[in-house]
Amino acid sequence: MVACWPEPIVSVQALSQTGVSTVPNRYVKPAHERPVYNSDQSDADLEIPVIDMSDAWGKPEGLLRVRSACEEWGFFQVVNHGVNHTLMERMRGAWREFFELPLEEKRKYANSPETYEGYGSRLGVVKDAKLDWSDYFYLNYLPSSIRNPSKWPSQPPKIRELIEEYGEEVRKLCERLVETLSKSLGLEPNHLMKAFGGDDKVGASLRANFYPKCPQPHLTLGLSSHSDPGGITIVLPDEKVAGLQVRRGESWVTVKSVPNALIVNIGDQIQILSNGIYKSVEHQVIVNSGMDRVSLALFYNPRSDIPIGPVKELLTENRPALYKPIRFDEYRLLIRQKGPSGKNQVDSLLASR
Ligand code: OGA
Ligand code: NI
Repeated sequence: MVACWPEPIVSVQALSQTGVSTVPNRYVKPAHERPVYNSDQSDADLEIPVIDMSDAWGKPEGLLRVRSACEEWGFFQVVNHGVNHTLMERMRGAWREFFELPLEEKRKYANSPETYEGYGSRLGVVKDAKLDWSDYFYLNYLPSSIRNPSKWPSQPPKIRELIEEYGEEVRKLCERLVETLSKSLGLEPNHLMKAFGGDDKVGASLRANFYPKCPQPHLTLGLSSHSDPGGITIVLPDEKVAGLQVRRGESWVTVKSVPNALIVNIGDQIQILSNGIYKSVEHQVIVNSGMDRVSLALFYNPRSDIPIGPVKELLTENRPALYKPIRFDEYRLLIRQKGPSGKNQVDSLLASR
């Protein structure tokens, strides 16, 4: 992996704050990638499923809901998820405060493409690539042996404690979700977690995303279309500003977040383990001219040093293994080099290629 970025890093937030009235060329996407604002009424009403975690945990019909959400959408919102609502609010507030700090303070945490840990403004190291209209802070959370709070922000006060507290609650939710996904696939409750390498060996990282206001939101994206490379992702969305869009066939559905819900999405590793039964669905983020948006994504991933391939119990004569096994550390390198690129990456593992 290269040690530095191919071009100097520009904070998009700082750029936005200069009051530019046009989007610089490096953020202008080719016409076919620009946001589509669904004018088609048939799509305007579509929404990702909402699932009550207590049903998914305890009732057969809850498991069926989970199954159909993962087969058809790759996305759902969860309520009754067990993560304290006040903690969610404080976590969002603390990150908003972090991004409001002066640039010199944030730059102390400037990241490099070697680990991505820290404050950054681009994904991928391809020179002259079109960039996304966002900044972020990325940190490692699990396994705890790679956790290094000295690389986490020290301001605002208490942010490190908050990250640990929030991380713990979301980790517990992820453990329940992995068990739920396992059952919903007709597997033993602990089957998927074993395939992940065991709950004491899984990986998790956190990305706080900051999407600044944008003078010409129709020309760019806050985050380009991608599917998440890992296991499952838990997104804490901005409570006021929408922006996340999920692919539905040829159109995009904008997520309307339910108050205090968390958004769950299936990543490429679950698509691979489930042999394509569960879908890791493309998504992107649009920006707007009126309001900044803050979101937090916690990525819960399999252990990175074991091969991940389709679960044998899910293979049939008619549906043999679709994917070649690959270790997550190897898989993740690809996206870290190329940046977000739709579903090209998981497709590259198709056994028939
Ligand atoms: C991500 C992501 C969505 C959002 O960080 O991978 O898709 O709403 N974020 O910011
Ligand atoms: Ni994502």
